[in-house]
Amino acid sequence: MSLPLFEKVAFIGLGLIGSSLARVIIAEKLANQIVASTRSQKTLDDAKALGLIQEGYTNPIDAVQGADLVVLALPVRATQKVLEIIQPYLSEKTIITDVGSTKANVVEAAKAVYGDALPEGFVPGHPIAGSEHTGVHAGKVDLFAHHKVILTPLPSSADWAIQKLIQLWQASKAEVICMDVEKHDEVLAHTSHLPHLMAFNLVEQLANREDNLDIFRYAAGGFRDFSRIAASDPQMWHDIFFANKKAILNAVDGFEKQLAVIRKLIEDENSQALMGLLGHAQAARQHFNHMLANRPLMEKNKVTTQQFTILPGKKNFQGKFSVPGDKSVSHRSIMFGAIAEGTTHVTGFLEGEDALATLQAFRDMGVSIEGPKNGEVTIHGVGMHGLKAPASELYMGNSGTSMRLLSGMLSAQKFDSVMTGDASLTKRPMERIAKPLREMGALLQTTGDRGTPPISITGNQKLKGIHYDLPMASAQVKSGILLAGLWAEGETSVTEPEPTRDHSERMLRAFGYEVKTEGNRISLQGGGKLTATEIQVPSDISSAAFFMVGAAITEGSDVTLEAVGINPTRTGVIEILKQMGADISVENERIAGGEPIADIRIRGSRTLKGIHMPEDQVPLAIDEFPALFIAAACAEGQTVLTGAAELRVKESDRIQVMADGLKIMGIDCTPTDDGIIIEGKGKSGEWDAIFTGGEIESHHDHRIAMSFSMAGLRTSGEIKIVGTETVATSFPTFTELATEAGLAIQVTE
Ligand code: S3P
Repeated sequence: MSLPLFEKVAFIGLGLIGSSLARVIIAEKLANQIVASTRSQKTLDDAKALGLIQEGYTNPIDAVQGADLVVLALPVRATQKVLEIIQPYLSEKTIITDVGSTKANVVEAAKAVYGDALPEGFVPGHPIAGSEHTGVHAGKVDLFAHHKVILTPLPSSADWAIQKLIQLWQASKAEVICMDVEKHDEVLAHTSHLPHLMAFNLVEQLANREDNLDIFRYAAGGFRDFSRIAASDPQMWHDIFFANKKAILNAVDGFEKQLAVIRKLIEDENSQALMGLLGHAQAARQHFNHMLANRPLMEKNKVTTQQFTILPGKKNFQGKFSVPGDKSVSHRSIMFGAIAEGTTHVTGFLEGEDALATLQAFRDMGVSIEGPKNGEVTIHGVGMHGLKAPASELYMGNSGTSMRLLSGMLSAQKFDSVMTGDASLTKRPMERIAKPLREMGALLQTTGDRGTPPISITGNQKLKGIHYDLPMASAQVKSGILLAGLWAEGETSVTEPEPTRDHSERMLRAFGYEVKTEGNRISLQGGGKLTATEIQVPSDISSAAFFMVGAAITEGSDVTLEAVGINPTRTGVIEILKQMGADISVENERIAGGEPIADIRIRGSRTLKGIHMPEDQVPLAIDEFPALFIAAACAEGQTVLTGAAELRVKESDRIQVMADGLKIMGIDCTPTDDGIIIEGKGKSGEWDAIFTGGEIESHHDHRIAMSFSMAGLRTSGEIKIVGTETVATSFPTFTELATEAGLAIQVTE
């Protein structure tokens, strides 16, 4: 049996937090002995009766002797006095920590006792958990579970002490974060102390009114929710407000400034700006959980949050579906609408996290945007020179398109900016866009390890037009350069090795900007302007592709995907499936909002056959290969893909990750530098299971997760797909629609 983490733990103070931690230590068997000291004999008796401590003392000296962990779980203002008393009785190896809400004053108290030579074992801490209830009886073993615990190690703190405290708090199922003392106090001033101050103050404001009884009697949910925290302990908050005075006063000043802003908007009846402010705040509130969860700070302890389980069994795959809006077109509608003159209305906008990251970035740059609501977005354009410096880094989540296109736009602005992203985006190559932009005179740095994000851009550079021969077929790089070209002097042109999606060119024209396409050469003149317009976003063929493949591999299936974008630079998947023998028809072709659309019907009536996939279709089907590999596994004979090295630098290395997953599921395949060879297991006229099932890791890649979900239509064993939360980046309704079509997906959060 392994030794417990601590021999003897001494709590000084045993209220809600201390007694909850004692409960964790007991439940997880982290110490041989727990003792406590409090001023109240009754608390000690109660704690003993509850089985929380073996011994209780009213004198802290008795408690700390021989303890290897001392937890100060008492009001912060008492820290200095207690430390003075217990200091002579602590050994060099004693770990001393606390649970107070402010940290600078705890460190000051320790310095008043120890001078500058603080003990190695001293590591202040702050569990961000609580309740309106107090006292030893209120403690709960799960009080800290899924909450954050901040440790603020000092330069004097030893690693052994920090590591043991991390283990202790992790045992309580908390997420442990280390930050420095000042940062802690500043962050907490804004996220906890200011809201408490506002809650107390608002209740006070209403309580002082003559009609206060009416107000409290009729107080609706808003008041109740907002004022809940004003029921907490006045003495504690009194102490915190003084203890963190400087940071709190800063936060109050910021609040007053912002209050004056909204006050003025209401006074002036500035409807557009007020909608902009409320929309910006609402979006920030809705998305901050997700965004924060992906910040690198948390990366070390990141846990996978979602998984799909797909059960075997014969499936029907049927129905008519509208998949969500096109991701590429949605991104561009926001970007171009923001820099246009006038108001742009968008319908069919993809409310997935990638496009929302773009939308949030423009809000952060001062653009007033209403929505999205049912796919509708209204953008009040600020013109070519109206973007404002964002207050902090722009967070692009999982979205390479946002980061590469915005690199071009931001390089031409007057202000500096920094763009960051999630674990997947942080690994993706950004020099491919940084290099040509530098040739145009931009000043930008890829500050990650290997030409990867974050990207740091210094504004106020004069850009000049260039000609650039794209070394790879990339619509993102092409678009990033052309977008910088809008502000550059003279002509900017690119030549592509093969045609790639041309949504930027089409949409710029729709906004009244002249763009020339001559063969593979695309060019524009800088210095023009965009005029607001209406954008109808078609359904995304890349999302439709999963259902196309699902239907193609399932006996008797019949699926129609309505109003799908069939821009010729995107239809490689239809061509390749046709060459594989799929029963697919493109019906009801029409134009909507400048883009061709159609209904695509596909039936499972014959076995697919393996082919050498045509290289000229690779850029036109670049996002659809994970799904096409599933089709190839179900085909009769060998499928060979070449000329697709770009797949290695998508949201994941899609060649390797797909090959790994296919092998787990019993498919013989060989990844190559620029493609893959897949030995299809299909037999003409047979519809038996092809895949064995197994556990698949999606590597933060939405398309990997959705492709292996479709394999569930031909599996003999259960398929588990781990890390499926990124599906929401491009196809938030995927599980709903796939279930409706007949696939049994269970989602576990
Ligand atoms: C996109 C271009 C493609 C594609 C991506 C979206 C775009 O990337 O894979 O999903 O909207 O321009 P590359 O430019 O890297 O090929």
